[in-house]
Amino acid sequence: MQQQRGTWSSNLGFIFAATGSAIGLGNLWKFPFITWENQGGAFVLVYLICIAAVGLPIMMAELLIGRKTQKSSVGALKDAVGPLWRYVGAWGVLGAFILLSYYTVIAGWSLFYFAKTVGWSLNGFPPGFSTGALFGDFVADGALQLGLSAAFSLATVSVVYFGVKQGIERIARLLLPVLFVLLLLMLFSALGMKGSGEALAFIFRPNFAELEPASILEALGHSFFTLSVGMGVMITYGSYIDRTQSVVKASAVIVMLDTLIALVATVIMFSVIFSVEGMAQEVGASTVGMLFISLPELFYSEVPFGALLGPLFYVLIALAALTSTMSMLEVVTAYLIDERGFERRRATLTCGGGVFVFTILAALSLGAVPVVTQMEIPGAMGRLLFGGKAGWFSMADHFISNWMLPTGGLAITIAVGWFMTREATEAELVDGAEPEWFRFGMWRFFIRYLAPAAVASIIIAVMFFGVDFS
Ligand code: PFF
Repeated sequence: MQQQRGTWSSNLGFIFAATGSAIGLGNLWKFPFITWENQGGAFVLVYLICIAAVGLPIMMAELLIGRKTQKSSVGALKDAVGPLWRYVGAWGVLGAFILLSYYTVIAGWSLFYFAKTVGWSLNGFPPGFSTGALFGDFVADGALQLGLSAAFSLATVSVVYFGVKQGIERIARLLLPVLFVLLLLMLFSALGMKGSGEALAFIFRPNFAELEPASILEALGHSFFTLSVGMGVMITYGSYIDRTQSVVKASAVIVMLDTLIALVATVIMFSVIFSVEGMAQEVGASTVGMLFISLPELFYSEVPFGALLGPLFYVLIALAALTSTMSMLEVVTAYLIDERGFERRRATLTCGGGVFVFTILAALSLGAVPVVTQMEIPGAMGRLLFGGKAGWFSMADHFISNWMLPTGGLAITIAVGWFMTREATEAELVDGAEPEWFRFGMWRFFIRYLAPAAVASIIIAVMFFGVDFS
């Protein structure tokens, strides 16, 4: 018997879920870090342009395929574009599987730091304590890494198990407002700090002399990651929307909220960093450094109400991560449901279990188990696909950022821009519900020419110039 497909309970429910997918570690962790690395101002401006000119049109493209076909990524591309295009859908499913396997590990860290900061808030931050050493020992502690990842996986599986409306939408509706309120609280606290002026200038005052060509590509690559496009999440989520919902309006709202949150998170973090003497020099060696080494300490020395905001900050990260991990698991699960006839609960458990095998590899690859940490693909293949990196965590991250997201994104632009007819895409975007500012001709130009050219430049940079976006 054909089971009934899930749907969102309302247009707003979909907006919550899709925005929840977009807002994640990419906004709270990666964006502030790459903004730091690339000297702020000009990079942020380029990022905003990439989001508007490439990310937004691709978001519309993914949602329109989903809405049109009411199928998840593989079936959607097959129906909307042609039989061979199902492999592009499958590529996305594979991408979501791989990304979920290591994203879960970082998400698990937020649980640990939540517990740690609660302890410090209650008992005081030990004088002279090294958060750097703590982090080093922590990632190499196999049992702890496994336990935290398992807990986070379980949370993700439990949401997706209950389906689109009862699981994903319900949790997104619940968590997203909490996330916004927490961020707002932190923003107020951060703006009151003495470094906030310098932080705002760093982020919003462009200095093009400091912008390098690789920064432009990095901004572009990140715009995919942060919007959850290039992997079929938006196709899948779009397949549960109702035909009265405007793809254009929804895309604009999701993209704006995602961008706003990334900027707010950056203002918060930089206000703290610029408020502390010498901190600006210390931060920056690694992406995780800012979030898990510098900030924990600063909450107890610099941040007003830090004892309260510290634990809340890690709750925030956990919530943001969960609304993203559930979208990745949904892509894989929906594939089994739509294409292989699985019943939802069985599909969720199968996918959750399958991904967890790789999560174990990722969790143990940060020093806990030497063979796993040193695991690599030798030779030219390993260098090309995984940047010669060792351990599943780093290999997977390299592969996703440098290969899967750009190639997935490129394929979508070509599928929608060149292999779907103008009439077919126009019927989805210009349906009477679209906002007044929308110009179909402009979208079509962007999706046919500008976006593919921009994304292709990432792939060329990775293949021929050895640029690394992970
Ligand atoms: N957009 C998420 C973030 O910014 O953390 C990450 C993500 C989720 C990327 C889902 C891709 C995806 F399919």
